[in-house]
Amino acid sequence: MKEETVVTLKGIKKAFSREQVLCGVNFSVFPGETVAIIGLSGAGKSTILRIIAGLEVPEEGEVYLYRRLATSASRLILPPWERKIGFIFQNLALWEHLTVYEHLKFVTSEEEHLVRLLHLFELWDLRKKVPAKLSGGQRQRLAIARALAQRPALLLLDEPFSNLDPIRKKKFRRELLRIKEEENLNLIYVTHDPNDLRLLADRILVLHEGIILQGGRLSELLAQPVHPIVKELLTL
Ligand SMILES: Nc1ncnc2c1ncn2[C@@H]1O[C@H](COP(=O)(O)OP(=O)(O)O)[C@@H](O)[C@H]1O
Ligand SMILES: [Mg+2]
Repeated sequence: MKEETVVTLKGIKKAFSREQVLCGVNFSVFPGETVAIIGLSGAGKSTILRIIAGLEVPEEGEVYLYRRLATSASRLILPPWERKIGFIFQNLALWEHLTVYEHLKFVTSEEEHLVRLLHLFELWDLRKKVPAKLSGGQRQRLAIARALAQRPALLLLDEPFSNLDPIRKKKFRRELLRIKEEENLNLIYVTHDPNDLRLLADRILVLHEGIILQGGRLSELLAQPVHPIVKELLTL
């Protein structure tokens, strides 16, 4: 690999029991890029993010992070906690016994950064509450703030805005773009929202039947879809 890449996946294959989910996934993400992954439910989008984060190992293929071999077939070379990856899980994975403040404190000792994030995501007044006392949108904001607290180089977002109302969605998209610029963050996210694709993605990867069927800008995919499913996924 001559060019600098943030992430490169090479020939990733993954099966769960008998079901082959990923059949040779190849793609790279370049510095500064925001990449969206789309696909039908069950296509393996979350599995790809988990493999990048080192939370799942493929049977075949390699994952490189900044040109460094991170996963090789079923071997984790770099453990998840050394990958500098922030992950916003589809199910959020909050810590039910910790308060909002403690969620952030657990991942950063930089008090100023922590307070800034609490304000940014409208969590300051909620800082003493545990997740059970929060609304769906508030829980989602907490998951985003926690992921950013550790100053990741790469942020993986699994349908991050699905529980937010349209106005907050718009606001957090904007904030995310700002933080991305400020912190030099690379984003890979899974979404079903056409607005996310239009407003956030530099490039879209279409995952279908275990492979990346097509990748490109939204306008390119709309103009020249290689398969009817591409257009269908883009115009939900
Ligand atoms: N830990 C697991 N054990 C068994 N099957 C799994 C596991 N994780 C995912 N799968 C299966 O793999 C397929 C892809 O899952 P997933 O990556 O969550 O898809 P997506 O995020 O695109 O909806 C699904 O059929 C799902 O049931
Ligand atoms: Mg998923």
